Amino acid sequence: MKTTRRIFSALLLLAGLTVQLLAQAQGAAAAPSAAASASIASGQGTQYTEQGADTCLSCHDEDSSTVTFSVNPIFKTRHAHRGDPRSPFGAGGLQCEACHGPGARHAAKGSKKALTINNFKADSFLSAGQRNQACLTCHEGSARTGWHAGTHERNNVACTDCHRIHVEQDPVLAKVTQPETCYRCHAQQRASFQNTSAHPLRSGKMACSDCHSPHGSSAPAMLAKPTLNQTCFSCHADKRGPMLWEHAPVAEDCSLCHSPHGSVRPALLTKSPPMLCQQCHSVTGHPSVARTGASLPGGGGGGSIFLLAGSCTNCHSQVHGSNHPSGAKLMR
Ligand code: HEC
Ligand code: HEC
Ligand code: HEC
Ligand code: HEC
Ligand code: HEC
Ligand code: HEC
Ligand code: HEC
Ligand code: HEC
Ligand code: HEC
Ligand code: HEC
Repeated sequence: MKTTRRIFSALLLLAGLTVQLLAQAQGAAAAPSAAASASIASGQGTQYTEQGADTCLSCHDEDSSTVTFSVNPIFKTRHAHRGDPRSPFGAGGLQCEACHGPGARHAAKGSKKALTINNFKADSFLSAGQRNQACLTCHEGSARTGWHAGTHERNNVACTDCHRIHVEQDPVLAKVTQPETCYRCHAQQRASFQNTSAHPLRSGKMACSDCHSPHGSSAPAMLAKPTLNQTCFSCHADKRGPMLWEHAPVAEDCSLCHSPHGSVRPALLTKSPPMLCQQCHSVTGHPSVARTGASLPGGGGGGSIFLLAGSCTNCHSQVHGSNHPSGAKLMR
């Protein structure tokens, strides 16, 4: 880490000065940094180091035998873009302490004094809300605008329950590895996605965040789009109306018939036809039954054709609605 250290030597700034410089030089981008340091500092009552990352790395070097955690991969991530003034390691940035808070006391003692430096774990002296504030002061806005309306925020989930900072590739950001992060807390969903009929998460073609905004949204179940159907339409546009011949429940809510996370039945169905259909339609009222006078299902006779013909969808194949001029009764 000699090179890294030398680069940081150019950035020997006192914390106060840093904040001031940031405020002057970077306008909007600086304000969050200043606020971040203020919020962490107040929870801790200690000083920033004078030499920033240089001090930290004098012990937290990958060659050091006193520490067990490798901090170095962070230098291969976007947080270490020195050319980006918004980054912790950009000019005038607070470097390691932008996230961990003022570390002078910890650096002086050089030991695992959990109460003197924020480690982003549940045993930190900071609450989940305060730990998140360290991230949010730079990351408010964009995809996180919904954070304060979200179920995760209300349940004290921390940014760092999902995100890993000291790794080259944060697993939650890649489709293939993301679900594993979510399953740690959502075991039920892990089971659902093992079903024979399920969206292709196991193959890594999709991820939870294709349907959900993990940072929160004002939609039910933190869905990515304002309604459930709009979420589905973002990929299944062919199911979007208006159709010449509509099927009311389709326009209303796809989940009346489909379990989005997976099902033991084909096509993610909540029930198999004809049971699926009979939740809302009674066979006894089927017009053909009425007209032919066929006897009722269960009672033997012709009426059961409507059940035995494989399923209702053999005749009513356009269950999602039809644009065919003669597609009445969802037949084509
Ligand atoms: C004099 C050596 C020394 C310096 C300087 C130092 N640390 Fe540490 N730090 C340690 C040791 C030793 C541990 C315990 C390591 C372990 O268990 O792997 C530790 C632990 C930590 C932890 C984990 C604390 C916990 O409760 O689990 C964090 C976070 C940390 N250091 C960040 C920093 C930061 C940021 C800086 C610079 C501001 C810094 N350290 C400077 C020696 C140092
Ligand atoms: C001093 C400001 C600052 C702080 C504090 C900060 N970040 Fe960042 N973060 C950035 C910048 C700048 C980027 C790069 C953004 C870009 O390139 O558009 C970034 C990128 C990211 C990314 C995207 C990484 C990628 O590979 O696409 C994630 C995730 C992230 N930060 C999470 C966090 C979390 C979690 C915390 C708190 C532990 C945090 N950040 C603290 C400034 C900060
Ligand atoms: C429940 C897990 C989870 C939590 C908690 C979480 N994130 Fe994320 N984050 C993700 C996922 C998944 C993505 C990638 C998909 C996306 O952009 O929605 C992501 C993407 C990001 C990105 C990069 C993409 C972008 O939108 O710029 C940043 C930055 C980020 N998160 C910051 C944060 C911050 C700050 C917090 C805490 C306030 C946080 N995250 C909390 C799961 C989470
Ligand atoms: C963008 C925010 C951010 C920056 C900048 C940052 N860290 Fe971290 N650090 C974290 C988070 C979050 C964790 C928790 C583990 C993880 O996410 O990988 C952590 C974990 C650690 C740990 C291990 C704590 C433990 O679990 O024992 C040490 C040590 C550490 N950081 C030191 C440093 C040093 C030294 C620097 C500067 C070179 C630095 N960090 C820069 C956010 C940051
Ligand atoms: C640290 C634990 C934790 C992790 C990791 C986590 N969640 Fe959650 N999540 C919760 C808690 C707690 C709740 C609220 C209680 C519940 O519904 O189980 C919740 C609720 C939800 C909800 C329901 C929201 C609502 O309003 O009904 C969704 C959707 C969700 N999480 C998606 C995700 C996704 C996607 C990921 C991964 C990117 C993820 N979660 C990772 C803890 C977590
Ligand atoms: C194809 C879109 C889609 C994908 C992919 C998806 N979800 Fe969902 N999820 C939904 C919908 C829609 C709901 C609302 C269900 C309802 O209201 O009937 C939901 C609801 C939830 C809930 C609230 C409790 C519940 O089951 O109703 C949680 C928690 C959740 N999802 C977690 C996850 C996790 C974790 C992943 C990834 C492993 C994931 N979801 C992937 C669409 C999806
Ligand atoms: C990000 C894109 C995406 C979103 C959003 C999405 N799907 Fe899908 N859906 C897919 C893909 C990809 C497949 C698999 C197609 C294949 O295997 O040929 C699929 C397949 C399906 C299937 C057929 C499954 C089978 O086993 O035949 C149903 C039913 C379905 N989706 C319903 C929904 C519903 C309901 C929603 C909204 C809650 C939704 N989808 C949201 C991409 C998406
Ligand atoms: C009234 C029940 C019902 C509703 C509501 C419903 N579906 Fe379906 N869906 C079915 C049935 C039944 C099948 C199986 C069709 C078959 O076997 O030919 C199916 C199959 C599918 C398929 C896979 C085959 C194909 O046609 O591409 C997708 C994708 C799908 N539905 C998406 C949706 C979406 C998106 C919505 C909401 C806009 C929705 N469904 C609403 C009953 C329904
Ligand atoms: C959640 C309730 C619900 C479910 C489940 C449901 N339907 Fe419907 N269906 C309706 C409603 C409501 C109408 C409109 C009735 C009306 O306009 O009088 C309708 C209308 C129809 C029509 C007449 C369409 C027309 O053009 O007049 C057919 C045919 C039909 N449904 C077949 C099916 C089949 C086949 C299934 C099973 C795959 C099914 N339905 C499942 C509620 C449902
Ligand atoms: C053998 C073919 C066939 C099967 C199987 C079948 N239907 Fe039909 N269905 C029809 C025909 C034909 C009509 C139109 C009758 C008419 O308009 O006189 C119709 C009409 C309907 C209507 C519209 C009623 C109205 O008042 O306009 C509904 C609802 C319906 N079927 C539901 C079902 C359900 C539910 C099943 C499965 C239990 C089913 N059908 C099975 C042929 C079938």
